Amino acid sequence: MGTMGTVTHRKVVPPMKTTRIVLASRPTGRPEPANFRTETVELDPPKPGQALLQTLYLSLDPYMRGRMSDAPSYAPPVEIDETMCGATVSRVLESTDPALRPGDIVLGYGGWQTHSVEYVSYLRALDPAAAPITTALGVLGMPGFTAYSGLLTIGRPQPGETVVVAAATGPVGATVGQIAKIQGARAVGIAGGPEKVALLRDRFGFDAALDHRAPDFADQLAAATPDGIDVYFENVGGPVFDAVLPRLNKFARIPVCGLVANYNDTELPPGPDRLSLLMSNVLRKSLTLRGFIQTEFLDQAGDFYPAATQWLADGRLKYLEDVVDGLDNAVPAFQGLLTGKNLGKLVIKVAE
Ligand SMILES: NC(=O)c1ccc[n+]([C@@H]2O[C@H](COP(=O)([O-])OP(=O)(O)OC[C@H]3O[C@@H](n4cnc5c(N)ncnc54)[C@H](OP(=O)(O)O)[C@@H]3O)[C@@H](O)[C@H]2O)c1
Repeated sequence: MGTMGTVTHRKVVPPMKTTRIVLASRPTGRPEPANFRTETVELDPPKPGQALLQTLYLSLDPYMRGRMSDAPSYAPPVEIDETMCGATVSRVLESTDPALRPGDIVLGYGGWQTHSVEYVSYLRALDPAAAPITTALGVLGMPGFTAYSGLLTIGRPQPGETVVVAAATGPVGATVGQIAKIQGARAVGIAGGPEKVALLRDRFGFDAALDHRAPDFADQLAAATPDGIDVYFENVGGPVFDAVLPRLNKFARIPVCGLVANYNDTELPPGPDRLSLLMSNVLRKSLTLRGFIQTEFLDQAGDFYPAATQWLADGRLKYLEDVVDGLDNAVPAFQGLLTGKNLGKLVIKVAE
C-alpha cells in the first residue's frame, strides 16, 4: 500500500513457481522438440532491487537460433539446461523497488517461462494506454529500432531511390519499407507466398511486392526495379541475395541485418564458389556492405521512440502481429519463424 521511499510492495505468498522451457541440447540444423525440455521449478524470492514478474507475452525472434548454438557469435549462447532467452512483457507481482508496483506492466528479458525474477533497473515500465503492450516487442521495440537505425544509418535512402527488403511482412522488414517511404524512397518488398505479397501492397503500402518462391522471381525483381537498387536491406541472404546482386546500382548501400535463410544450415551451400562474383560487384560498383547489431546504435533510441510513436499515430507506420496462444506452442512457433509460417511479429501469449 505504502508509497514512501523504502516500502516493499508485496502481494504474493511464496513459494512461487515458474514453468520454463530450457535448452536441453544444441540443435543440428532445424531445432526439434527434443532440443528443449519443459519443467516447473521454484523461484527464489526477489532480492533487494528485484521484482517478481508474471510473463504475459514472450517475443520469438530469429536471433534465438544463434543462441541455441555455441558457434562464435556476437553474444554468448544459452547454456544447456538454462532457460531459453527472450524479451517479455510482464505484469509485476511483487517489487522490492518502489519504482514499480504490483500490477505495473513492464518490458523485460524474462525468457521462455511463465514467471521470472528480474532486476528493476533492467525493466522498462510500459503505458498500456499509450500503445498496445505487445508493440514493445515489435514495431516499438527491438525489431522496429533495428529497422530504423540500420536503414537510416547505413542505408541512408534518398528521395526517389529504390529500397528493397525481404522478410518484408516481418517486424523488421515491414518497418524498413515504411520508413523508406517516409524518406521519399520507392519501396520494393519481398515475401513468401501470395497472402504475404498482398499484405505488402494493401497493408504496408510497398510500391511493388514480390514472392521469392515464384520460379521467375529474379525476372520479377528486375521488372520491379527498372532503375536498379540503391539500398538493399539484407534480412535473409540465400537466393534472394543472388537475384539482388546484379540489380545493385553504383554506390548502393547494403545494411546486413540478418541471414535467416542460412540460420539452420550445417554447411556451406553446394555450387561454385561465388566469392569472386560478389567481390567484383563490390569493387566495380563501389558497394557499401555493412553488418550491424542494433545495440551498436542504442544512442539513437531516444530519436526512434518518439518518431515511431508519431508515425504510428499518423497511420504512416503500420504493424502486424502473429500472436500464438500458450507457452507450450513456443517450440513449433519458433520452428515456423525460420521457414516463414509466421504472419507478422511472432509473439507467444503466455497469460491473460
Ligand atoms: N542485426 C540485428 O541487430 C537484428 C535485430 C533484429 C532482427 N534481425 C534480423 O532481421 C531479420 C528479420 O527479423 P524479424 O524479426 O523481422 O523476422 P520475421 O520477418 O518475422 O521472420 C523471419 C522471416 O524470414 C523469412 N524467411 C525465412 N526463411 C527464408 C528464406 N529461405 N528466404 C527468404 N526469406 C526467408 C520468412 O518470411 P517470408 O515468408 O516472407 O519468406 C520469415 O517469416 C532476421 O534475419 C533477423 O535475424 C537482426
